[in-house]
Amino acid sequence: MRVLVTGGAGYVGSHSAKLLTECGHDVLIVDNLAEGHRPAIGRARFVEADLIDRKRIAGLLTEHRIDAVMHFAAFAYVGVSVREPAIYYQNNIVGSLSLLDAMRDAGVNRIVFSSSCATYGIPERVPITEDHPQHPISPYGFTKLVIEHALADYSHAYGLGYAALRYFNASGAAADGTIGEDHDPETHLIPLILQVALGQREYVEVFGTDYPTPDGTCIRDYIHVDDLATAHVAAIEKLQPGMALKLNLGTGHGASVQEVVDLCREITRHPIPTRAVARREGDPPKLVADASAAKRELNWQARYSMREIIESAWAWHKKHPRGYQD
Ligand code: UFG
Repeated sequence: MRVLVTGGAGYVGSHSAKLLTECGHDVLIVDNLAEGHRPAIGRARFVEADLIDRKRIAGLLTEHRIDAVMHFAAFAYVGVSVREPAIYYQNNIVGSLSLLDAMRDAGVNRIVFSSSCATYGIPERVPITEDHPQHPISPYGFTKLVIEHALADYSHAYGLGYAALRYFNASGAAADGTIGEDHDPETHLIPLILQVALGQREYVEVFGTDYPTPDGTCIRDYIHVDDLATAHVAAIEKLQPGMALKLNLGTGHGASVQEVVDLCREITRHPIPTRAVARREGDPPKLVADASAAKRELNWQARYSMREIIESAWAWHKKHPRGYQD
């Protein structure tokens, strides 16, 4: 297939574009490099463009005879979205709608969309199934939910085929060490812990030790970025016009912040000092996926363990202590 990948210079986008190419698909990456990294693109064809430019995107879809789109381009900092909702609404919603309309202009009717467990908000029950009510508690989560609704309406009205993939906690790095996680600023737990092991930070803050969990710290479902990539390829290969898939992508297993720190200590052989601080606003105690629908629909399940996630991330951060600058 000829696949246009938006946000292909970003974290999940670059790993998925790499796998698409390895599976024999023809990839065209479109990224405005606002958050993405040029070196993450590898050998794929690349056009620097903004999704808001509907005419240009429609032109690229037509010119490259694109069959389907994988849409990753978005801002993804929950905290920033609370302080600066305007740029989230603009980029994540207006940008995505512009892309969908460019696809209509060009007659492209299949899309895999990067959604999030943040669309569920504070869960009423865990593990979370796809029919769990979606009540996001951040502008970021809301922008993802709005686009899920737009996809459903476009599917109904225009015959669009879509897969909304709701990721839990994307983590880890490519097995061959070529690409990995590089956010500026970094806010995610595993890279922050590994920066302590690299001597770039003195300690890692543990946000809340009084949660109703066995060790008092938050539980999350960490999923290897290459497992996410595999699910995206399976989804795009299955999609047909008019098809609607809404799937959680997680392992079904949770790890607490304390467990992640302990495993990082073991793998890096560094003491990794921690400091208990107050809870971070908006953090639910426990988020774990029920990923059985993805198994049923895509014959997909996560292959990488928590240990493999941290080992791959550690290999990447050791080799690239300043991310793509190295
Ligand atoms: N945490 C700490 N200290 C830190 C950073 C994180 O204790 O310095 C904790 C958080 O409180 C949380 C866990 O580590 O319990 C994981 O936090 P991350 O920031 O790594 O990830 P989040 O769970 O907040 O965010 C992820 C995705 C978002 C998505 C969100 C949905 O990165 O895109 O899940 O809840 F929206």
